[in-house]
Amino acid sequence: MKVRVGIVGCGVVGTGVVELLLKNGDTIKKKTGIELVLTRVADRDWQKSRAFQVPYQLRTTDYREVIEQSDVVVELVGGKGFAFELIEETFQKGKPVVTANKHLLAEEGQELFRRAQERGVWIGFEASVGGGIPIIKAIRESLVANQIEAIYGILNGTTNYILTRMLEEGVDFERALGEAQEKGYAEADPSLDIDGWDSAHKITLLSFIAFGGFFRFSQVYVEGIREVDLLDVELGRELGYTLKLLAIAKRRGEELEVRVHPTFLPEEDPLAKVSDVFNAIMVQGDFVGKTMFYGRGAGAHPTASAVVSDLVDTARCLMHPANCRSRLDWQEKNLTLSDDFYSRYYLRFDVPDKPGILASISRVLADHQISIASVLQKEKVCKLAGREGEPVVPLVVLTHKAYERSMRRALEEIRALPVVLGKPVLIRVEEEAE
Ligand code: HSE
Repeated sequence: MKVRVGIVGCGVVGTGVVELLLKNGDTIKKKTGIELVLTRVADRDWQKSRAFQVPYQLRTTDYREVIEQSDVVVELVGGKGFAFELIEETFQKGKPVVTANKHLLAEEGQELFRRAQERGVWIGFEASVGGGIPIIKAIRESLVANQIEAIYGILNGTTNYILTRMLEEGVDFERALGEAQEKGYAEADPSLDIDGWDSAHKITLLSFIAFGGFFRFSQVYVEGIREVDLLDVELGRELGYTLKLLAIAKRRGEELEVRVHPTFLPEEDPLAKVSDVFNAIMVQGDFVGKTMFYGRGAGAHPTASAVVSDLVDTARCLMHPANCRSRLDWQEKNLTLSDDFYSRYYLRFDVPDKPGILASISRVLADHQISIASVLQKEKVCKLAGREGEPVVPLVVLTHKAYERSMRRALEEIRALPVVLGKPVLIRVEEEAE
């Protein structure tokens, strides 16, 4: 069977898809019997340099030509406005869409899935999460028999690359970001990566399909890596932890926690060893237990691999439409998003090295039923402060698991203590221990 494929948006990923289809088209045909014929590729700017030369006869600047001349449209423009219209216009023609647009699906996915369902067309989005890792298919198909209990992992290649370069190789932030951009990992607007939004889009989308709980993206707690202080990375290391930007979705009864933030992981945790552009996602199901998925989370070739796998699935859907009714709009009615997370915490206070300070901090924690797991005070001086220029040292408190609301109230009180200088640092710790 021949299936005509059109692409709208020929940036890093679009160029990768063109290259893959032209290089591996025969292999795909041998394996599947499906011939994916690239008919048209639209982009606004054909002057910019690309890693692979797109044949001239395929190029256009008119996206409508792509819709007209294809059986399936690949949306790779990104963002929300035009991408939504393009997908909607393609659906209206009764044609399926393959997209890598996590931003759009996290924020407008419920509506898009509803429209796809209504019109009886397929929407494939394997490339939207985890680059080349087949995580969407794994959750929707391979793990379908399970009640999913938790999904957590490293979902952004750019920030993981930056953290690896900074923390393991001593490269400064700006240079590490520049490298990630050159390698084609970063979003067009890299603050989406750095400030945690890209990870948040991805964990939201995974939550939709895993827990059946559509919620507003604006309810997700998001904190990126911009504020990370190297002092905490060092102190965390001494306590046996590695810092990663983690995306977490956990079910507790009828409540779902969905959050993205820098997180300390025990150094022996498999996720702590995931470095560079790699992503890893842990999925925990009630029957299967924990399963981990690992691979390149960004870049032209891995993402193209996911896009083209969706094209093959879409072609199969076109051949056998009756078998192509996997539901995207199922909803667990009672599931609500909770912001009262339950976690262990690393806290750092900058304090003068004087008697009674630890006692006053631990008193406040005890008043809020927060139990201390360990304490680390360094003689290392952070700064000189106060009228007499007294030395200020970092005091680190590691807590047992506690609820976030209690923790925030306790921190407000501790911050108001005259001996605590500046804003306390809070980093959540993800580990099995209570
Ligand atoms: N900017 C994203 C990342 C690309 O760095 O993970 C893949 O979605």
